[in-house]
This record gives sequence, C-alpha cells and structure tokens, in this order.
Amino acid sequence: GIYDILHLMCFPVEEIVDIGSFAPEDIHIPKIYVHRLIKGEKYEKRIERLSVRKEEDVKTKSGNPGDNVRERIIKRAALEFEDGMYANLGIGIPLLASNFISPNITVHLQSENGILGLGPYPLQNEVDADLINAGKETVTVLPGASYFSSDESFAMIRGGHVNLTMLGAMQVSKYGDLANWMIPGKMVKGMGGAMDLVSSAKTKVVVTMEHSAKGNVHKIMEKCTLPLTGKQCVNRIITEKAVFDVDSKKGLTLIELWEGLTVDDIKKSTGCDFAVSPKLMPMRQITT
Ligand SMILES: *[C@@H]1O[C@H](CO)[C@@H](O)[C@H](O)[C@H]1NC(C)=O
Ligand SMILES: *[C@@H]1O[C@H](CO)[C@@H](O)[C@H](O)[C@H]1NC(C)=O
Repeated sequence: GIYDILHLMCFPVEEIVDIGSFAPEDIHIPKIYVHRLIKGEKYEKRIERLSVRKEEDVKTKSGNPGDNVRERIIKRAALEFEDGMYANLGIGIPLLASNFISPNITVHLQSENGILGLGPYPLQNEVDADLINAGKETVTVLPGASYFSSDESFAMIRGGHVNLTMLGAMQVSKYGDLANWMIPGKMVKGMGGAMDLVSSAKTKVVVTMEHSAKGNVHKIMEKCTLPLTGKQCVNRIITEKAVFDVDSKKGLTLIELWEGLTVDDIKKSTGCDFAVSPKLMPMRQITT
C-alpha cells in the first residue's frame, strides 16, 4: 500500500501517550512505518462539510422549500428501499431519500470511506469531526455500526454485497451506460467510488436525476457523449417526470409517469426511444 512508497512518514498528532497505552489490536498503523510525530501547538480539526439536522426537521434538509422537482425525485426514490437491504447512497437526492425510510423497515447504509450503519446527520451538539461520510459530510452511526478500511469497503462493494446503489448522473444511455464523473475540459468531480459501486451485477443501480439538463438538453440518450463511469450498469432511472426500467439489451421501459404529463411529453424530453409498460402508472410517492 501507500506506506511502502513513502520513506519518511510524518504524522500530525493530537496527543502523545506512553508506550503500551494502546492494546496491540487497536493499532492501525504499526510503528515500522512511522518516522516522525509532529505535535503542533494549535491542533485544529477542521470540518469540510458541516451537515446537521435540527430536532424538528428530520425530513428535508434539501434547502429551498419550493424545490418540488427535487422533492418529487426524493419521495419516489424512497420507495426503492426494502427491509434488510444494504445500500450505498450518493450525496444529495439519494441520501435525502433515506430520511423517508419507513420506521418499520431496516436499511443498512454503507459509506465507501468505511462505515456500515450510517445514521442521520448529527444534531449540532453531536457533531464529531472524525465521523464523516464519503462526501465529507458529518454523520452519525446507529447501534451495530462498524468501521473498516477502504480496501474492506471496496471488497464489500465489488463483491456484490451491497444490494442497492443510488446515485446521480450527468447522462444515462438507453442500455444503461452511466456517465457521472467528468465533462472533458470543464468539470472533473472525480469518479470517487462510483466505478466500483456500479461494477457488480448483483447490485441494483438506481439513478436519480433531473430529466433534462439546462436548456432542455437530453440526459437520457441513445449513447452517452461523456466519458463513462460504467457500461450497461443502470437498472432504473428516476426523474421528476418519469421512472424507467433499464434492460441492458432491450433498452428503456417507461413504468411511471408524473401526473399531468403524457407519454408524448416524455418522448420530447428523452433523447432515445423507449417502450411503454402495459402497467404504466402514475408516478408513486412515499407517503409519510
Ligand atoms: C442483499 O444481498 C444479499 C447478498 O447478495 C442477499 O442474500 C439478500 O437477500 C439481499 N437482501 C435484499 C433485501 O435485497
Ligand atoms: C410497514 O410495513 C408493511 C409491510 O411489511 C407495510 O404494508 C406498511 O405500510 C408499513 N407501514 C408503514 C407505516 O410504513
């Protein structure tokens, strides 16, 4: 790993304690790699993304109350959770959907930085700078949670142990190709763990996103034009207008439609053809 490459490892520390203070099984980095400790005067733990919930608003931390496009997607996405499921949720809409998980089901949330059993965002007085999710937001954990290294986390993910991964996208193709990490010459967010998250056929991949980009540019299309995160990996697309099932060979099937919209409206805002389910129904929303 990384320790093999670095010949002089310096660690900033909060506290230096006597030898033997740690039980051998509690040591994460054996001393053979550690060459220098630096104990500064004003050790400060910075929080990159302070995310808190207030006692009263467990439901939406989505910001703008008039933001009903996001709200629609969130409330539909929340119906994807099933009892006993292990799920990895992207920052934003997917994670907000977890606020609507029914109290009578248990969903185990995994974060690829090494947490299984994520809880809600902390209350202001529960914030812990060391406890963050993969998006660097402050989080809490539930009873029964565990922490582990990134290699362990990606073993879970690549091994197909995570039942559901829900994430945003810039483009999705008719056959489920996913592009969500870079716009050449413009935006490079970094793929993070997304390539791994969509790599196992055992993991259901649900994309939550707005139906079109600004200026009615198609995001659901015949073939993605942006660099791919994964090929033929998306199983379902949820937008504020519709829900599609994706088959890697047969393509898209429209299964739900926002009330007031017609199949023709969806055709206009979608960059490829799609089948219409004989059981097409109004877009469902979780009831709270
Ligand atoms: C989650 O995945 C495991 C392993 O593939 C499977 O045994 C289990 O039934 C799945 N659970 C749900 C709720 O999908
Ligand atoms: C609890 O779960 C059952 C199915 O197991 C479901 O029918 C019911 O609507 C759920 N109740 C609530 C309050 O979500």
